[in-house]
Amino acid sequence: MKKYLTTAIPYANGAPHIGHALDYLLADVYRRFLTMTGTEVRLSAGTDEHGSKIYNKAMELGVTPQELVDKNAADFKSFIDELEVKYTDFVRTTDTAHMKRCQEIWRKLQPHIYKSRYEGWYCSGCEGFVSDSDCANNDGVCPDHKKPYERLSEENYYLRISGFKNEIREAITSGKMRILPEFRANEVLNLLENAPDVSISRPKSSLKWGVEVPDDENQVMYVWIDALVNYLTVLGYPDAPEADFKELWGSAVQFVGKDILRFHAIIWPAILLGLGLELPKVIHSHGHVLANGTKMSKSLGNVVAPRDVIVKYGTEAFRYYFLRHIDTFADSDFTWEKFEAAYNGELANDYGNLVQRLANLAVKNGVSRVDFQPVLPTEYVKIMNEMRFSDGFDYVWGRVQALNQEIDQKKPWAMKKEGREAEIPAVMQDLISTLLEVNYMLAPFLPKTYEKVEEVFGIRGGEIRVPETPLFPKN
Ligand code: MSP
Repeated sequence: MKKYLTTAIPYANGAPHIGHALDYLLADVYRRFLTMTGTEVRLSAGTDEHGSKIYNKAMELGVTPQELVDKNAADFKSFIDELEVKYTDFVRTTDTAHMKRCQEIWRKLQPHIYKSRYEGWYCSGCEGFVSDSDCANNDGVCPDHKKPYERLSEENYYLRISGFKNEIREAITSGKMRILPEFRANEVLNLLENAPDVSISRPKSSLKWGVEVPDDENQVMYVWIDALVNYLTVLGYPDAPEADFKELWGSAVQFVGKDILRFHAIIWPAILLGLGLELPKVIHSHGHVLANGTKMSKSLGNVVAPRDVIVKYGTEAFRYYFLRHIDTFADSDFTWEKFEAAYNGELANDYGNLVQRLANLAVKNGVSRVDFQPVLPTEYVKIMNEMRFSDGFDYVWGRVQALNQEIDQKKPWAMKKEGREAEIPAVMQDLISTLLEVNYMLAPFLPKTYEKVEEVFGIRGGEIRVPETPLFPKN
């Protein structure tokens, strides 16, 4: 069995911020879980490198757009590595191969493309058109970018969405294309009802940095078209052997944030149907990372740089907080206070101490080896298959806490005095194999910790030994 997982490609106009980590981590946990259960996984990542935001930023910095994206793409790649996220494919939208494939895709979409003039409102922050009613509802100012909408009149190419609406609706309601969490499917269905045809190009005069429209030197592809098709071009479409491509694409699970779900659930399926391709199996949309319930922003001074957390506490601690305390589907807070409480109270206390305690007891009582057969409990497998990762992590943590209680009840340290010395090896075997079972479930979330704990308990060779330094030193 094969599965193809995709992550949204961030704009390469700056350094990675904390919210970017979520797409990568969720996809990585799923990848690791699938791999453990015998599925071969491709995981794609990349950077979105065209558009006015990038062009303007480069001008502001006095560099060329290419120089800017080269630097930022390298930064994103190393950020993904720092998160211990393993991707198999990486695409930059300025790659020559991507741009060429983009143009071929455009040609294939010809029957669904027409030219027309747009007269209306536009937000340069969203790089998108705004309907008269949205403009009026927002008092003429973009709520996300706090900038007044501009009036625009220009010629564009359009993709006919209208003809695909029924098929998209049917795919969502029948679950052929599942939208997670379920409640977002209804939002998408509502948006779909009134979705206009989409503009898929800009005159070169208003967009200077993009993929040229084939056979029209005055037009450049709209950034979202160039960006969305990355999920295909990274697999070599349309040049790749069809059978290989179709098998993979037919298994796609796409990880995106809730803010870009509408692009992925309406425009993207229309493109795919226009190309005669299958729709993705799942669009998994996560919530946002906030600071005390509000958006992180430079002006509020509440921005946390992800690398500050990683440098101080390490990747495992970062993954712990992001995968357990940032709810997989709902908006959640990242603050230093909450992070540190979780690190000290849970990772260091509940888990670090548990490992130290059991290793100590084993060594003191001459237990040097245990038997261990990895198994995954049905409940855990069910939650993980449903891609409810923070719930999956909560389930595992419940088991960690239960094991701590079991040790407190069984009190192996008191057994000698009680004259029950003969029972110690069996009790220790029992407790340690439970720990190893829990540890095995932690593997997709905390891969390095999982390995270290197996080393401590001799699963990877040697005898049980007490770690010289605690797994998670208290801060
Ligand atoms: N370039 C587009 C995506 C194109 S995909 C074909 C884009 N880039 S982005 O940099 O703005 O966002 C990239 C991803 O990060 C998106 O999934 C987005 O939802 C996610 N996040 C950006 N800020 C976020 C938070 N504060 N919290 C969680 N995720 C958020 O959109």
